[in-house]
Amino acid sequence: MLRPALDLVLSALEQIQENSEKKLCASRAAIDRLFQAAPLVSSNSESLRESKVDRLAAVQARVAVCTKCPHLACSRTQTVFGVGNPDAEIMFIGEAPGVEEDAQGEPFVGRAGQLLTKIIRAMGLAREDVYIANILKCRPDLPPGSFGNRVPTPLEMQTCRPYLVEQIDIIQPEVLVALGAVAVEGLLGTRGTMRELRGRWHSYNGTPLMITYHPAYLLRNQSPSEKRKVWEDMLQVLERLERPITEKQRNYFL
Ligand code: URA
Repeated sequence: MLRPALDLVLSALEQIQENSEKKLCASRAAIDRLFQAAPLVSSNSESLRESKVDRLAAVQARVAVCTKCPHLACSRTQTVFGVGNPDAEIMFIGEAPGVEEDAQGEPFVGRAGQLLTKIIRAMGLAREDVYIANILKCRPDLPPGSFGNRVPTPLEMQTCRPYLVEQIDIIQPEVLVALGAVAVEGLLGTRGTMRELRGRWHSYNGTPLMITYHPAYLLRNQSPSEKRKVWEDMLQVLERLERPITEKQRNYFL
């Protein structure tokens, strides 16, 4: 409903701009606020979803050309924005793209990602139902010739965090799931051990936040007890969303 009105305002502004000598200026924050107001007065969920898609695309376009961390802008193959349902109830937050993600431009597609996909399926959901993003949109660079991954620095996370904040603001998930201590540090700015953080509800700006182990940890520690811990955290997520849980799901990884 608001969209035609917004278009009118924009074309009127364009006309004023054309006919006047003075340059019209609007800050990005002001424009974002204008577009963020649209869902509040929009009456149908279709246009609400459309506006989420448009707004995410606008952030993604800025991320794609971001050079705030020049060393990462030079070394990346491409940025890795996020994937999934803009209306997702659950948003998973990881650390940073790895080599596979950097190559494919999609988060969590490597070994750890395949395990995350399995966990999502065990929850009775598909990757397309949830939203998946990382704190960092670029793969942390490594010295030439070296393999593996590097943990993002606090400065890199601080620099990239605003993009994630925008993603969360647009998607407005019911529940956030932070995967691992680095993701927690990137999101909340606080450091802690997984032993003290995981398995209980935290809050990010009023949105319930579950903290659990990163799937890469489960690949390193294949013991059923560690898998079970992650699964118990996911059961808490399902319970919070009032999703039906089968007996089979309850006993998973036991
Ligand atoms: N690990 C992450 O934290 N994110 C990815 O996208 C892949 C692996």
